[in-house]
Amino acid sequence: MRNTRHFVILSVLVAVLTVFTYYALIYVIAPLPIEASVQAGQIDWLFNLEMMLTGFFFAIIIAPMGYSLFVFRRRKGDVGDGQHIEGNTKLEISWTIIPLIIVIGLGIIGADNLRKVKAVDPQAMEINVTAFQWDWQFDYGDGIVSDTLYLPINKQVVLKMQSRDVIHSFWVPEFRIKQDVVPGLVTEYRITPTIADTYKVRCAELCGVRHSYMEREVKVVSQAEYDQWIKDQRQAALIAQATEAADPNPSAARGEKLYASIGCKACHSLDGTKGIGPTWKGLFGSQVKLSDGSVVTADDAFLTESIKAPNAKIVAGFTPGMPDFQLSDKKIADLVAFIKTVK
Ligand code: CUA
Repeated sequence: MRNTRHFVILSVLVAVLTVFTYYALIYVIAPLPIEASVQAGQIDWLFNLEMMLTGFFFAIIIAPMGYSLFVFRRRKGDVGDGQHIEGNTKLEISWTIIPLIIVIGLGIIGADNLRKVKAVDPQAMEINVTAFQWDWQFDYGDGIVSDTLYLPINKQVVLKMQSRDVIHSFWVPEFRIKQDVVPGLVTEYRITPTIADTYKVRCAELCGVRHSYMEREVKVVSQAEYDQWIKDQRQAALIAQATEAADPNPSAARGEKLYASIGCKACHSLDGTKGIGPTWKGLFGSQVKLSDGSVVTADDAFLTESIKAPNAKIVAGFTPGMPDFQLSDKKIADLVAFIKTVK
């Protein structure tokens, strides 16, 4: 009879502590940002199930332990030994078998969940993503390149991601999925956004001094807005082409665009500020002191070499670290033409 009473009280304690722990976990300890993709729904469902189980197992261990410490404590004047218990086979078998079943079950549910998260829509829209120290670039084809990622709502998109230098990681917490971008590989990131809003993609892999600034906006918009944006981008590309044709120094104009888009600006300032690399202000024609003590003139040959083989000659006061951007000779000429104009 006394055992039944303990059992009832403990059941109530376990139930209450389970609910308390579960809500504390999902609202206080590990609250998630809004769920903004189809894939996030799947992931959150599994996360939620695991939080419930975590709450239950925490309660079923802590509640009986705390209860026993209090109810079966040594009374005043009790100097006898505790009861000697020599194992309990039934209990040991059940606490081996039950967790085993739960873990295998979770494994199966997890694998099925992953299959759903990775489900491929053959109609998925493709966008090429380039990650580099320390920025993102999104290429929609047709010469449309943007540093903001525009995505139409409720449509699966597959990002084909490449890195130009080191390992980066594409992460939008509201979409839940995180994917590494590895040099020499094309990794895929498949997502179906469900809420129109502005999010932030951040790099989730330590990738150098400006890693924490490697963020860009992700705008999820209606299909109509998206189509309009693409149209505007095409128009802008055409206008840019026409301006380039009319430009007396088209090479320098192309170089200026490259400077902003491929990542030169992360390290080289145009206003004389000392960055991670030397400033481009007044660089062309100047006398440059190298780390080995020699002095060279920053002419076409020196600048071209410094872009092609960045670590061949290091300017005094700087550390080697610039990656080889593997630019075509034409692009390098454009960049050098632009450097000449920065006075
Ligand atoms: Cu790229 Cu961190």
